[in-house]
Amino acid sequence: MPKAQRTQVGIVGAGPAGLVLSHLLYLHGIESVVLENRSRTYVEERVRAGVLEQNTVDLLCEMGVGERMKREGLVHYGIELRFKRRGHRIDFQELTGGKGITIYAQAEVLKDLNNARIATGGQVLFEVEDVGVHDLDSPMPKITYRKDDADCELHCDFIAGCDGFHGICRPSVPAGVLTEYDRTYPFGWLGILAQAPPSSEELIYTYHELGFALLSMRNSQLSRLYLQCAPDEDINGWSDDRIWRELRTRLASTNGWKLTDGPVLQKGVTGMRSFVVEPMQYGRLYLAGDSAHIVPPTGAKGLNLAVTDVQILARALEEYYSKGSHNLLDSYSEVCLRRVWKVQRFSWWMTSMLHRFPDDNPFDQRRQLAELDYVTSSRAAAKTLAENYVGLPLEDH
Ligand code: APR
Ligand code: PHB
Repeated sequence: MPKAQRTQVGIVGAGPAGLVLSHLLYLHGIESVVLENRSRTYVEERVRAGVLEQNTVDLLCEMGVGERMKREGLVHYGIELRFKRRGHRIDFQELTGGKGITIYAQAEVLKDLNNARIATGGQVLFEVEDVGVHDLDSPMPKITYRKDDADCELHCDFIAGCDGFHGICRPSVPAGVLTEYDRTYPFGWLGILAQAPPSSEELIYTYHELGFALLSMRNSQLSRLYLQCAPDEDINGWSDDRIWRELRTRLASTNGWKLTDGPVLQKGVTGMRSFVVEPMQYGRLYLAGDSAHIVPPTGAKGLNLAVTDVQILARALEEYYSKGSHNLLDSYSEVCLRRVWKVQRFSWWMTSMLHRFPDDNPFDQRRQLAELDYVTSSRAAAKTLAENYVGLPLEDH
């Protein structure tokens, strides 16, 4: 006989979406249980992105999990666009009325959230197996899973599918209900985490005839850098020396700027795709984050979009439990998708402007350079980039 448990909201996945949702619900007095099939260590050590929009920073502070981020995060008020070996700063502060971004690794955000969940008696179950979701179009859906070799059932009012792109929630929606929108890019990113002091105060996005390059960072001792590569690039073909040589070539600048290298602690290749599923809800299942949409990392939006999804979902669940109203739950998908498509547009635009496409001809390359020249010489165009990069305001609904 499976061990049965009852809760209000069952959450599959302890990534940013699942943990932010669980803690937001707790702050609204709503119970939840988070089911994660990996270990806590694995989830907290996974190297992922690290750019937080102003809205994400404000929300984490409001939730009471922003203290370490405030202490250790790097606040930036601009980025550099580099092309033809010259850098051009996009001044967020001037262009967005004072907004900025915070560099703070996703892994650190997850550590802070896990600590807060556990400190407040939250239930985050790691290393569960065989998670399945059922009765989604009934008033009491359930999640089945195995924990410590025991069959378990979690009966809920609602299920939040926060299990990422490769999770089980989206595929559990009956065929024909969801529509998928997809674009894969003919390149990937080779990323490194290096024990090297960042060679720039702010992020540097570079357009180069050999391909895109990005200089980012984690703190005063750790740099994070990316190179455009083939989608199926073999990382074994890239010695650390070759990586630094290629970075030096692509990031080269006429003003004598130098790239400081150091031991490569971690390296890997990731594919690039844009993906959206509509709607983001089926019955009592609500999809949030990467389970519903993927953006190419050029706009640094993946984490932030997951956070705004669950911010919208938490408000809707709060309205349901406090007023018995379904209004915000019924509009959840539509409200999220409006933002998702704007963020998809921005991420596609940054990717298209800064990468070399194998099928492009010299006209296309001149057009890309003209776009970069326009964005860095027109205040209106720079403002568009800036307001999207720091994060579009969350719409009241
Ligand atoms: N059962 C339980 N947990 C699962 C299952 C499953 N079947 N499948 C996946 N998970 C877990 C994963 O191990 C992961 O910890 O769900 C979590 C999903 O987290 P993310 O992939 O981080 O997705 P999300 O929370 O939506 O955050 C999106 O995170 O990874 C970045 O680039 C991504 O920035 C984006 C953001
Ligand atoms: C990162 O710091 O990992 C990072 C920064 C900006 C991006 C993508 C990744 O666009």
